[in-house]
Amino acid sequence: MPTFLLRILLPILLPVVIFPQKSNGEFEQWCIADVQATDAELQAAINYTCGEGGADCSKIQENQPCYLPNTLKDHASFAFNAYYQKFKHNGASCYFNSAAITTEKDPSYGSCHYDYTL
Ligand SMILES: *[C@@H]1O[C@H](CO)[C@@H](O)[C@H](O)[C@H]1NC(C)=O
Repeated sequence: MPTFLLRILLPILLPVVIFPQKSNGEFEQWCIADVQATDAELQAAINYTCGEGGADCSKIQENQPCYLPNTLKDHASFAFNAYYQKFKHNGASCYFNSAAITTEKDPSYGSCHYDYTL
């Protein structure tokens, strides 16, 4: 293919390939811990989401599929997402005092499944 055609087509086609859209026009988004968040911020946010926040954090308990890796960042990611998916239609945002960010990449791994709700 002539180079000039590629130069025209690539910017048009690339976003379609990288960001496949759902039929309802929304991107799938998960909510995970921001790499810049401090341990204290993550711990406080886990305490809230898994406590009075009402997120289902059973899967990050010992012997459950998302317990490992047992790091604050991984556990916070799971907790943030569980909270966000549960309450996003009631106005919850993926923020947690800026300890969280959204991602279009499914964070699930092995038998640890990160929920996504439409
Ligand atoms: C989170 O909860 C634990 C256990 O209840 C508590 O020891 C800790 O101080 C709390 N951490 C923060 C940052 O709120």
